[in-house]
Formats: sequence, C-alpha cells, structure tokens
Amino acid sequence: MADNQTDNVTGVKDEVLAGAELASMQKSSVVFKGEHSIRDASLKLEDADMEWWRDAKFGMFLHWGLYAIPARGEWVMHNDKIPADEYARLADQFVAKDFDAGKWARIARDAGMGYMVLTARHHDGFALWNSPSSYSGFCSYQKAAKRDFVAEYTAACREAGLGVGIYYSPMDWRFPGYFQPMELAENAALMKKQGYGQIEELMRNYGKIDILWYDGGWLAHKGTDADSAWFWDPVRLNTLVRKLQPKVVINPRSGWEGDFQCDEGGHEITGAIIDQPWEKCLNLNRASWGYNTRQNLMPLEEIIRTLVNVVGRGGNVLLNVGPDPDGVIPETHVERLREVGNWLRINGQGIYGTRPGPFQPIDHVCCTTFKGNKVYVHVLDWGPSGKIALPGLRQKIVSYSLLSGEALLCVQGNDRIDLSMPQAAGQQVPVVAELVLDADVSPPPGTPEQK
Ligand code: GLC
Repeated sequence: MADNQTDNVTGVKDEVLAGAELASMQKSSVVFKGEHSIRDASLKLEDADMEWWRDAKFGMFLHWGLYAIPARGEWVMHNDKIPADEYARLADQFVAKDFDAGKWARIARDAGMGYMVLTARHHDGFALWNSPSSYSGFCSYQKAAKRDFVAEYTAACREAGLGVGIYYSPMDWRFPGYFQPMELAENAALMKKQGYGQIEELMRNYGKIDILWYDGGWLAHKGTDADSAWFWDPVRLNTLVRKLQPKVVINPRSGWEGDFQCDEGGHEITGAIIDQPWEKCLNLNRASWGYNTRQNLMPLEEIIRTLVNVVGRGGNVLLNVGPDPDGVIPETHVERLREVGNWLRINGQGIYGTRPGPFQPIDHVCCTTFKGNKVYVHVLDWGPSGKIALPGLRQKIVSYSLLSGEALLCVQGNDRIDLSMPQAAGQQVPVVAELVLDADVSPPPGTPEQK
C-alpha cells in the first residue's frame, strides 16, 4: 500500500513507500539460474568467507577462446554447425600475439573492479592452459600458442590485487554423448571424466583460486543445470573442489546450489532487496559474450544504473568483455570501462563494502546502501520536481552531501526525508547522496548482516 503524501512546498504528490509494504508491491525481475539446484549446506562457505566477494561488488568477466577468430560470438561452432575437426583447426591460428594478462588486470582495476573471471574453457572444449586431461590435447599449451594462459592470467590477477576467478564449462560440444547421454553413454562418460580431470587441474595447479564459475551443466542444451545433476554428480565434484580450494566461492551452475545465485543478461533490475548473495552477469557488447565484429556497447548511464540497481538489492555485477583473437580488449570497451571507473572514483564509497538498505529500493527512482553510520542514496530519477522522498529514520542526519560535490538539499521530518537536487534537470547518470547519521544504521529485517 502506498502512502501518498503531499509535499507542503510544491504541492507535488510524492510516494513514500517503506519496508514490507513496498516489498509486497515490488516484483523482482531477477531470475536465478540455480534456484532448483541440489542443496548441500556442508559444501557452502561460511558468511565470513563470502565477505570479500560481497564487498567487491564489481568484477570483469572475460569470454576468450578460439571463437574470437570467426568473431561471431562463443556459440559459433554450434550455431554454424562447424564439424569438430574443422573447428579444431582454429587452434593452429590461435597464437594470441598481443596477449598480456597484466594489461587486462590494469583495465579491470581502472574500471573499479575487484575480481576477474576468465573462460578457462567454454563449450567448444578448447582449454586455455596446459591440460593433460583434455580429450585429444585440445589446449593452448599443446597447440600453436604454446602458452599456458591460465597461469599468466592467475599471476596477473594476484599481482593487481584482484580476486582470481575461473569459468569452466563441463559440457563440451565435441562429444556426441553430450547430445545423447543415454544412447552414447560411453562417450558421455569420457566427457565427464575430462570435466573432473580439468577441474582438478585448475584447482590444483594455479595457487589460490578465489572464484569457480561453472556454466553449461545441462545436457543436450535441455532443462536446467539441476536436471542434469544425475549425470554430473555435482556434490562429488564440488567435494573434490573444496578439498583443493577450501575457500573458493562457487557459483550455482554445476547443479549444486553454490555460494551465490546468478542472474544472467542485460534486463533491467527491479524489485526488493534479495537476502542472499547474488551476482548479475551481463555483456558490455550486447552482440555476444565472445568477441564479435558487431558492436553494440551498453551506454555508460545504463551500466551505472545496472550497478546501482544491483548493489542496492544486495548483488554484485560481473560485466563481460570479449578480447579479440590477438588477446586485446577492444579500445571502445576499454574507454567505456574507464568511464565507469571515473564514476566509481567519485561515487565508489556508496558501492564498495556497503550493504543494501536501510530502505527498500523504489524501482526507477532510487536505492540505498549503507555502511556504519552512513547512508548512500543512489538517485536514478529526480522526477519533474527535482525531489525524492524517503521514509523516516530513527537516527538524526548530522550532515549530507552529494559525492559529486553538486548542491543537495535535505530536510528530515519525523516520518520522511526529503531530498532535492537543484541541478537535477537532465541528469542521466545516477548521483549518490551521502547522509551521515548520529548512530549506525540497522538494516531492514531479513537483510544479511553488514560487515
Ligand atoms: C550462457 C551461454 C554462454 C555464456 C554464459 C555466460 O550460459 O551459453 O555462452 O558463457 O551464458 O553466463
């Protein structure tokens, strides 16, 4: 139920929505891929081990492999029905002459990101490391590149102080058994053996891995990852992973529930605060995850709005780039990421290390985060009046400002807070107001504890 109040000064009606009332009106646009996965709490990390990931908020996803050569996205082998032996010849050309993982890491840092996740192996089966378990030696170390890209990448992440994330797709289109796991059970078993072997290599040979990001746990592209758990046996797989990497943060796409939930794609995020760790992954170039000559970059304001909408609902954002066949992240992507970094340098206090609340988000208008006695109001739209109204706070606001340094007015009443920005007209990119309180904030009930 909305509590419509009339602004005394302007006569404009503002909606003041609060807590559970608001939540009941909000329909979340988030769809979690691992929602029906197998539960096994014994494999899950403790909250304390997830804190670094929840504080980081923003990471770089990298889709890079042989598919960068045809430059039509990472599904090209399947979509264009390229036979496996013909596709495999791309490995003769894949030398990645300009690959420099240190450069990738610097780009991520400049964008304000705290971790990276690289497709060590996608659905095409080509491994970016020295992989003895690879079926028919289909890996960069044994082919033309003769390099272990995962070794270089993991070292560069650590050097730059970024969390080290590895994406791995157990499914592999080269195996007919993937498409007919019952009829071609022996072939499917070979694929599974390769998967277990490669996960073990990745978890054993590259030092501490911070994130393991599975994908493609389904079979024959049908159903969900959880539907295929009978085949992959994800509890056994992740028991092995936990032995080798006790603190690695695992996503839910293996068919086991994982340590966080995943929402995929560029759709707008609406709805209430989500009381479990989650991550939205999406593409900077909307054409595809893997390198594509077609370019359709997300505008800056859309990236920032996504970041704010996700963080204000308790999630992280994993933003994808697709480096070209030489290993270069296209300059247009780098430039856009730099712009995001510039925004974060000014407004990052309202993002990093915060928790969502104390207020529920108001779709398309604003969301709030907090840390200690500071509340950050991320304003998406000031409306025609240049004002927004929030529910009241028990604590007293002792000072307020916009992190951008622009002018802000704030009036605290008993049961509402009015904010207005004189220069709000035409403002596209969200601005962040910092409200300093005389005491710490208590989050809305059901929200995970603040750091
Ligand atoms: C989908 C696609 C895959 C991409 C992934 C990223 O599962 O199949 O190509 O890597 O989304 O989340």
